[in-house]
Amino acid sequence: METETWIQDIVKQMTLDEKIAMIHGAGLFRTGSVERLGIPSLVMTDGPIGVRAEFEDKRWIPNGMTSDYASYFPSGSALAATFNTELARLNGKVLGEEARGRGKDVLLAPSINIKRTPLCGRNFEYMSEDPKVIEEMCVPFIQGIQENDVAACVKHLAANSQENDRMAVDTIVDERTLNELYFKGFYAAVKEGNSYCLMGAYNKLNGEYCCTSRQLLNQVVREKWNYDGTIISDWGGVHGTVEAAESSLDIEMDIHSDFDEHYMANPLKEKIENGELSEGLVDKKVSNILRLMKRLNMIGEDKGKRKSGTYSTVEHHQAALDIARESIVLLKNEDSRLPIRKEGLRRIAVIGENGIRIHSNKGGSSELKALYETPPLLGIKKILGGNVTVEYAKGYEVADNLKAVYEDEESWQASSTQEVDISKIRVKTDNKERERLLKEAVELAKTVDEVIFIGGLNHAYDLEGIDRLNMVLPYGQDRVIEEVLKVNPNTVVVMCAGSPVEMPWQDKAKAIVFQYYAGMEGGTALAEILFGDTNPSGKLPETFPYHATDCLPVQLGEMGKPGKVTFKEKLKVGYRQYDTDKTEVAFCFGHGLSYTQFQYSDLKAYVSPSKEEICVKVSFTVTNTGDRAGKEIAQLYVSDVESSEWRPVHELKAFRKIYLKPKEQKQVEIKLGKDAFSYYAQKQKQFIIEEGSFVIEVGASSRDIRERATITLGAF
Ligand code: BGC
Repeated sequence: METETWIQDIVKQMTLDEKIAMIHGAGLFRTGSVERLGIPSLVMTDGPIGVRAEFEDKRWIPNGMTSDYASYFPSGSALAATFNTELARLNGKVLGEEARGRGKDVLLAPSINIKRTPLCGRNFEYMSEDPKVIEEMCVPFIQGIQENDVAACVKHLAANSQENDRMAVDTIVDERTLNELYFKGFYAAVKEGNSYCLMGAYNKLNGEYCCTSRQLLNQVVREKWNYDGTIISDWGGVHGTVEAAESSLDIEMDIHSDFDEHYMANPLKEKIENGELSEGLVDKKVSNILRLMKRLNMIGEDKGKRKSGTYSTVEHHQAALDIARESIVLLKNEDSRLPIRKEGLRRIAVIGENGIRIHSNKGGSSELKALYETPPLLGIKKILGGNVTVEYAKGYEVADNLKAVYEDEESWQASSTQEVDISKIRVKTDNKERERLLKEAVELAKTVDEVIFIGGLNHAYDLEGIDRLNMVLPYGQDRVIEEVLKVNPNTVVVMCAGSPVEMPWQDKAKAIVFQYYAGMEGGTALAEILFGDTNPSGKLPETFPYHATDCLPVQLGEMGKPGKVTFKEKLKVGYRQYDTDKTEVAFCFGHGLSYTQFQYSDLKAYVSPSKEEICVKVSFTVTNTGDRAGKEIAQLYVSDVESSEWRPVHELKAFRKIYLKPKEQKQVEIKLGKDAFSYYAQKQKQFIIEEGSFVIEVGASSRDIRERATITLGAF
């Protein structure tokens, strides 16, 4: 029987109670089942960096078993920094396999919100400031997950780019900006990734709560995008029965365990029984859920063929390492300071608290009970072995009271829909102790062959529920770095963080490495880069401004405030702002060095003669001119020479990661379609192309353009 008819057939057999059971949480991470008809619960889990620990069904209390240790994968930012779409697929595949192995149906990942400013507390989960990077990385990631008969649940739709007042803030965004920036990743997730589920965001968008917005869910997602997947609310993101019923939301989830009182539980049933709302609204939701279950082989004739998955395997740990290796960004390497030569080393110093910190178990809903996590000091000691003495000094004190966020009640999540009192977390360091740690570090730095400083942020700053106030390094780290650099100017500085930090010592340090939270093998990968076993090949998927106040939304006061936030900067987000306004930045979008050098040549671009579809064929050559094999991320930007509407100076439209042996060269061929030249015209309510000239730029970063070519598009 045809699937849709089969679904309708089941719906007809269901009582109202049975239908209602399916459309809201019946446990913290599952819906109700209908045993009579063989319909199971839909079981969900976080999240983007690995499958979260098991909780009791009705309380936010970890069930305390030891069988839920999972593989810990690099965060969304780290994955994006690889610019490697094959690794994105691999990441999705192993993550989906872990979810299925743990018996889950829906994985609440990936998190793909735009990094609108450097300050959003959840930036570490998110991929990029640029929608093209998000699209290219999230599509294979989703497909990889779903190969395992597990649904991806792409989150959080939409314009969810701040954590302060996250449950209520009304984000006001114009239609063009939404379509060109904030919707792009979700659209690709639906159209190309075929994501089976979407999660609504907590915030409001233009006056309506995202989880139940008619404009967003009914008109855009269902009607315009023709989406027939399942839409799930964020936990506690629903605020009314009528709006929920009439919107295209399918499942209401909440952090509270009064499941029968959820808006789409008894209150909805009553409104249907007294004739206020029609049962047909529920039927649509149930149909969408049944379609999802069919796609996952949870029901229907292929039920017996459902994949079984597996988790915490050696292969998965290897995948985590492969991704981590390519995620590390070499920001600066004056005098070829890196890699550090292992030969002849006797005594080195590692300074900084991130040298020894475990990050996997914090951050909010993406927290993880990792089977293991290799912090940098362990990675370094592993790689150097017993003949080198590796001394460690903390350098500064992490005094923050993370317990105030995480262990207040039963768990962090039990109170996660309330605002967090920041003053409870941020604790001042004791002066005496601070001086002692600084002195200890400086003294150590004087006496060793090499000094590696490993600092940055942790999940007291990269944190669900709270935005950062600025980009300043906490715990007085700047002073420690400055003082250590004074006694050892060759000190290598490593920043581990989920988002950009100010680096006032940038000019003084010869080598700077940036590592996003890079998963269970992060420390191993970092050590390999520092000591030259791996050639760095990550690039920044976001701009690092000098200060947060360089960022327009922050300047305009339209970031992090409660109540209403207007995206007045419109398209001026990330390099679209900095490059257009020629603002000096610490490190530009797409920047990242290698231990070898790459040359670009022979750029050719021509418009293919086809009348029906725009196609511009671009080719160029990349040569590895150095003496080490390496990978280059070649970036292609398009610039509209003349436009009747404002456009950014250029926009990323394609990238390729190319592996080249020493002296090897490869020709890169890229076909650009309509999407590369169009913008969203508000009047016509669609993407349009204006005829005229466009400049095609290729290069190593948004500010290191090596070749340019001009093409002219006629009328279409
Ligand atoms: C987060 C979601 C998460 C959900 C379930 C919410 O607090 O915003 O990303 O999937 O909790 O844990």
